[in-house]
Amino acid sequence: MLSNLGDWRRTHDCGSLTEKNVGEEVLLMGWVQRRRDHGGVIFVDLRDREGITQIVMNESSPEARETGDAVRSEYVVAVKGKVVPRPEGMANPNLKTGAIDVVVSEIKILNQSLTPPFMIDEHTDAAEDVRLKYRYLDLRRPQLQHNIIMRHNLTRNIREYMWDNGFIDIETPFLTKSTPEGARDYLVPSRVNPGRFYALPQSPQMFKQLLMVGGYDKYFQIVRCFRDEDLRADRQPEFTQLDIEMSFIDRPDVMNLIEGLMERLFDRLLGIKVTRPFPTILYKDAMELYGHDAPDTRFGLHLKTINDIVADSGFKVFTDTVKNGGVVKAVNAEGAGKSFSRKDIDELAAFVESLGAKGLAYIKINEDGYQSPLIKFLGEETTASIVKSMNGRPGDIIFFGAGDKALVNLTMSKLRLKLGRMLGLIDDGRFDLVWVLEFPLLEWSQEDKRYVAVHHPFTSPMDEDIPLLKTDPASVRAKAYDLVLNGSEIGGGSIRIHRSDIQKEMFSLMGFSDEELKNRFGFFVDALKYGTPPHGGIAFGIDRIASIFAGADSIRDVIAFPKTQKATDLMCEAPNIVDDKQLKELSIKLDKMNI
Ligand code: AMO
Ligand code: AMP
Repeated sequence: MLSNLGDWRRTHDCGSLTEKNVGEEVLLMGWVQRRRDHGGVIFVDLRDREGITQIVMNESSPEARETGDAVRSEYVVAVKGKVVPRPEGMANPNLKTGAIDVVVSEIKILNQSLTPPFMIDEHTDAAEDVRLKYRYLDLRRPQLQHNIIMRHNLTRNIREYMWDNGFIDIETPFLTKSTPEGARDYLVPSRVNPGRFYALPQSPQMFKQLLMVGGYDKYFQIVRCFRDEDLRADRQPEFTQLDIEMSFIDRPDVMNLIEGLMERLFDRLLGIKVTRPFPTILYKDAMELYGHDAPDTRFGLHLKTINDIVADSGFKVFTDTVKNGGVVKAVNAEGAGKSFSRKDIDELAAFVESLGAKGLAYIKINEDGYQSPLIKFLGEETTASIVKSMNGRPGDIIFFGAGDKALVNLTMSKLRLKLGRMLGLIDDGRFDLVWVLEFPLLEWSQEDKRYVAVHHPFTSPMDEDIPLLKTDPASVRAKAYDLVLNGSEIGGGSIRIHRSDIQKEMFSLMGFSDEELKNRFGFFVDALKYGTPPHGGIAFGIDRIASIFAGADSIRDVIAFPKTQKATDLMCEAPNIVDDKQLKELSIKLDKMNI
């Protein structure tokens, strides 16, 4: 029953025939989306990546009708036929090809298909693990095809912009040495150098800087990066960056280049005009107002530290927090009192507690006074000053988080996002871009008992803060910038240290001994001694940008073959065990106790 292609070739794809083609003889090929038998007339929705065309097999060719009767979902067929207008009232305005049918004169079944484990259409409700196992079928769904093709348009426009601006596309190695970006490395054992390992790059950071030393002036690359870290909806173990580095520039030059890029991408892909220059916010203000360094600025609900108001209040949770160096922060959920039930509030408390908070204190402001378990501790006066400071009005609910600063920022920032959604304050059609500036250069790691770089150790301190490196490293600000889109960090970069003396000082602040420094970064510090130009750059998460542009919930929806939250590929079942022979060649013995 199966036929070969022979000399049959397509005249059109499945998304392009319209009334203009009526009367033409055409040849189409594609997949059977659906077959319906209407009393001896067979209708098939024929699908390819461009769309769907309805083909009809009727009494005009009994032979075609007989073959058409045998086709099933996802069979691959080729048809020759004539374009006819759909009968009066039968046109489908939602389909590009909805005005016509193709009446088939000859049909070939090019291949059969097993019954797919889920319906291949927009509305599949199959569980994600089934879709990932049969990813090649999932990829046929129009929504996924739309996302993947949109992503292609994204990278194509990025490349064109970078070329237009004089950037050179240069590849950098995958089998390399550890790059410090803060995650764990994926390691690759070397057969020819037993006991030695390559690290897959967490980013091409050192290579792109070495390309500046090498005189390439403006570099870019769309490149895969590998990070062994805890995965979330916006994180994959391998992901794609637009990586950029440029010489003889300072912060405004990089920001200007990127604003031009974003302007073009929003225009070409979404038809949206962005306003330049983009707003900026200082890191410390982002942390105070949003509790997060990637603020969603599409709505207000700003957080506020109220330590000074509650320090001497009668509520022990708050006073102890202030005494112990913690923070008490509040957010006014304006209007929430009108729509939130007691159950909603309990659920919010359970939500912040699941993130580590000790509780969720609140004050509900009614027309006739306050309602809160706290008033008896806080007293009328303190309650009134809190309400005043938070601009509380009848109908509002003020929520509180008290404790360690990092934890309060984490829980209150998540609470803020949840409140924003519940109160309908987030406009999904809006795109807010904001630069976050003046990050700290270093932060103290309690775990490692040393300073660690907030971005990476090649980030330059702000010129005026260089003297503080010796006296107060934690207060040194970095020449770094992150670009945030709707609360998602889509890119980040910095002006780099181009002097080897400062680079060495930075490494020693981070607790590297001379020996470690030489082993890990010796080649890099040496390179800086051979005439390194001032330089800087940035990298963007292409998967994140694509998912926001596509309105997807997860970056998995814009990656052809993504991994699960557990870093596995369900389709090819990677990672997997390997032969003993392979291990032996690599001089590797497994610790069976740990497996
Ligand atoms: P950074 O580590 O901030 O900077 O990474 C740049 C951007 O890459 C995206 N990103 C990710 N996307 C998906 N999955 C992940 N696991 C993941 N990790 C990061 C984010 C992020 O903003 N070398 C520096 C850049 C520089 O200084 O030029 C770097 O890699 O959108
Ligand atoms: P308690 O005195 O522990 O019953 O707490 C009184 C109220 O304060 C309850 O609504 C708790 O949810 C809330 N609460 C307790 N600890 C905290 C905290 N660290 N941050 C915010 N609210 C808290």
